[in-house]
Amino acid sequence: MKVHTPSLQSRLPNVGTTIFTVMSALATEKGAVNLGQGFPDFDCDPRLIEAVTEAMKKGLNQYPPMTGVPVLREAVAAKIKTLYGPAYDPVSEITITAGATQAILTAILAVVHPGDEVIVLEPCYDSYVPNIELAGGVVVRVPLTPGTFRPDFDRIAAAITPKTRAILINSPHNPSGTVWSRADMLQLQDLLEPTEVLLISDEVYEHMVFDGQQHQSAARFPGLAARAFIVSSFGKTYHVTGWKVGYVAAPAAMSAEFRKVHQFNVFTVNTPVQHGLASYMADPKPYLELPAFYQRKRDLFREGLKRTKFRMLPSEGTYFQCVDISAVSDLGEADFCKWLTSEIGVAAIPLSAFYGNGFDQHVVRFCFAKKDATLNAALQRLVRL
Ligand SMILES: Cc1ncc(COP(=O)(O)O)c(C=O)c1O
Repeated sequence: MKVHTPSLQSRLPNVGTTIFTVMSALATEKGAVNLGQGFPDFDCDPRLIEAVTEAMKKGLNQYPPMTGVPVLREAVAAKIKTLYGPAYDPVSEITITAGATQAILTAILAVVHPGDEVIVLEPCYDSYVPNIELAGGVVVRVPLTPGTFRPDFDRIAAAITPKTRAILINSPHNPSGTVWSRADMLQLQDLLEPTEVLLISDEVYEHMVFDGQQHQSAARFPGLAARAFIVSSFGKTYHVTGWKVGYVAAPAAMSAEFRKVHQFNVFTVNTPVQHGLASYMADPKPYLELPAFYQRKRDLFREGLKRTKFRMLPSEGTYFQCVDISAVSDLGEADFCKWLTSEIGVAAIPLSAFYGNGFDQHVVRFCFAKKDATLNAALQRLVRL
């Protein structure tokens, strides 16, 4: 018998090892301070662990309902109503997912047919483009304005055609740290009003908006909410990125299509974690205090960066700080990040990794979701540059 693995034709021929994996491996090898990948190096609130443990001990360990446990869907709907206004029906309009990444893939698979165009605003989170390709959609890349990373509505308008099925937006924005204003959202609402374009609004950093600004969720804008999958993630909000639990809020008709795919994709999401999150959410303080928590870290990091040659870009939200490296190095972003990790001992991520064409504007991203000691250790190394 001849044993062989049949040849494969990749569904995603352009996908290789991501820069995040490369940089993290290099950071580990070189013992660098890892400000590359976006996750906290500190633990979550012990009360959250207790709440999940409690659920496990109570025997809440079997399959939950396909759409998520009712108490968590109710808690999410109540939070959205309190913070943003609209009353989503927890039964038909909120679905618990295995993190935001699964939610976005599922939303795209649910609504994008082969040949449909989907607009992404670059730089963007790295799963969007492969997700659209898996659905057979056509990726239409529109750049955010270089330098400021603000939406360019003329270019977005020019990209909309009768074939456009959806647009993906992300505010607060990874990697730039920009936050869309109310005026931005109103402009998007006006732009989409005469169209059949759906909105996928990635709001995983919704509770990390600084300097007294408010998060402008698509939920606040009836014309957007009526056509939006609003995606969020408990991982970001509660410092538990490894738990991979998130949710989608969408009108009933859209949620129904979403759930058809969700049902045969993950079917359900970790039961005790859902119960733990639901009871922890009864206290709004942890997410209401998150802006101040991260703003203090941002300010600590920015204060230290003032002593370096980097030119800081604004960080209005998220846990990312971007810097222009032009005064420090002539290297391209990716080579600079490898050099910074190997020679200086601090890992960062090149912004070019968030563009399909590797657009290099001499800007790199640091993550400040780290212990103060980690940030100070990184700064000590960066001031030497
Ligand atoms: C913009 C954006 N969307 C989605 C995600 C993924 O969230 P989750 O871990 O819940 O899948 C991330 C995580 O880095 C992100 O930055």
